[in-house]
Amino acid sequence: MCGIVGYVGSREATPIVYEGLRRLEYRGYDSAGIAVIQDGQIAIRRQAGKLDCLGELLASQPIKGSIGLGHTRWATHGRPCETNAHPHVDCTGQVVVIQNGIVENYRALRHELRAEGHAFKSETDTEVIVHLVERYLVQGLSLEESVRQALHRIEGAHAIAVLSTREPDKLVTARLGNAGGVTIGIGQGEMFVASDIPAILEHTQEVIHLDNQEMAVVTAEGARFLDLDGRVLEKSPHTIPWDPISAVKGEFRHFMQKEIYEQPEALAHTLGGRVDLKRGRVWLEELNLSAQDARNIDKIIIVACGTSAYAGQVGKFLIEAMARIPVEVDYGSEFRYRDPLVDERTAVLAITQSGETVDTLAAMEEARAKGARLWSIVNVIGSQAARISDGVIYMHAGPEIGVASTKAFTTSLADLYLLGLYLGQARGSLSAERVETLLDDVLALPKLAGEVLDQDATNGGAGAYEELAGMYFKRENFLYLGRGINYPIALEGALKLKEISYIHAEGYPAGEMKHGPIALIDERMPTVAIAVRDGVYEKMISQVEQVKARDGAVIAVATQGDRFISTKADHVIYVPKTSPLLTPLLTVLPLQLFAYHVAVRRGADVDQPRNLAKSVTVE
Ligand code: AGP
Repeated sequence: MCGIVGYVGSREATPIVYEGLRRLEYRGYDSAGIAVIQDGQIAIRRQAGKLDCLGELLASQPIKGSIGLGHTRWATHGRPCETNAHPHVDCTGQVVVIQNGIVENYRALRHELRAEGHAFKSETDTEVIVHLVERYLVQGLSLEESVRQALHRIEGAHAIAVLSTREPDKLVTARLGNAGGVTIGIGQGEMFVASDIPAILEHTQEVIHLDNQEMAVVTAEGARFLDLDGRVLEKSPHTIPWDPISAVKGEFRHFMQKEIYEQPEALAHTLGGRVDLKRGRVWLEELNLSAQDARNIDKIIIVACGTSAYAGQVGKFLIEAMARIPVEVDYGSEFRYRDPLVDERTAVLAITQSGETVDTLAAMEEARAKGARLWSIVNVIGSQAARISDGVIYMHAGPEIGVASTKAFTTSLADLYLLGLYLGQARGSLSAERVETLLDDVLALPKLAGEVLDQDATNGGAGAYEELAGMYFKRENFLYLGRGINYPIALEGALKLKEISYIHAEGYPAGEMKHGPIALIDERMPTVAIAVRDGVYEKMISQVEQVKARDGAVIAVATQGDRFISTKADHVIYVPKTSPLLTPLLTVLPLQLFAYHVAVRRGADVDQPRNLAKSVTVE
């Protein structure tokens, strides 16, 4: 989950690379470094700790030059310290490498290279790459050829970038497997390399993504693309529809807070151009699915991780309700190893904000190998998951920077709703009247989501969430309960709280309370209960009563106008009435805000929680 940035052009490289790393800090950070060619020599500055530590070093020991590389590290091999920070340099001091991923055969390569006289300075697996490149350069190969030969020797998934004083006008970058992306940014007389779009968005919106087993030779004039056999590739640029502002915080205190508030707008973008009220239908061109294809599918398996997996669990309800196709949901990390029952009549749907989650990508490859049709719901345009799918439904949520996923979750749910509608229409399981109602309901959603967020003081609301956070931020355990389509929301609400406040929080199907968890309930263990007016409301009320009977405090998420629940729960947060299929898109919002305000009261690092990274590209 490291961050990679490169620059070649006529401007000073250091500030551009440093600011790019700042935009990628959410990807992973325990050390950072920058290398620049300065007066024909490679100058390197590396520092353990947050990026600011590197910034202080650069201020006291500046480096100048118009070509450079930078890296933020999330340690996998070797402690977070200066010598293990990237960039890594070869024995001659003429080559530097930065990398995202793991060299799985690095021990054997270290042994081989040491036997040739190479001296290693770090504990990292990455360092073997720079000595391999050095070996081939010394044999007289060009920089790109030396990198290509080195790539043939290393095993595992990688994203790398290389710089050398031997050919000081070019960067060579490559992508092998799913260790995070490599994006080439196209400027005017300057070029950029990055592991993620926000790093270069303020300079250009024209980008080209490297696919697996591809490399690029980048100079100020442009880029040439090759496969690992040295064959030239023709690749066309994407235009990223995100403006530079959308990748920065603006007036918000944290990216997570900004992204919570962006959800009404994000949902409007997700639905935009896909719902045709007049003709009563849904458009999903990029799914590349004819009505006949849709009728040939007899099972859908949703694969995802973390928050995206919980979106998938809601998706099961949506697709089965509208399209009447059986849906299974599995974690990417489980699916890939369980020899799943998949064939050409199975559609495997990956849900992944980053499009680069290694477990989800591996599950997709397993599904492909077994002949399934492959779909993905993705936010990052042109990311690996989107590129290997037969059909894709973009979230159109805009860049999600906060490690805790919020708008990607709700826009995934909107995409799943549209997919259920699309499949239902194609398979004839929905009447025209039903379709009209379903479309009307979903188009009302952005406005209803805005009403929920208006309750928050930051938005001029009454401050219900700050008040609740003030009462509960010192608790060490929470239980989240939901039923039916809102059970996955209990799981998601618990994940939000635990991952940014470090409070232990557990999501549970409410009906399971009596089978164990109720033993946990006492005055120290608060319960969040999702109890909207739906088919399981009465059951939820009795669960709330069971908690109260054991002196447990209850925070209920309920339907606007429901006065009865306030006679049962200690606190009630109301959400507007909507169709039962769409309640998750509203009930999750109070849980996001509650987790956010609790984490802020606890002084937690909301956007960069400890041990976490935005895109998990290593197993
Ligand atoms: C969500 O808040 C977490 N940061 C994490 O669970 C995330 O959802 C998971 O890693 C999947 O990421 P993806 O959607 O990019 O595949």
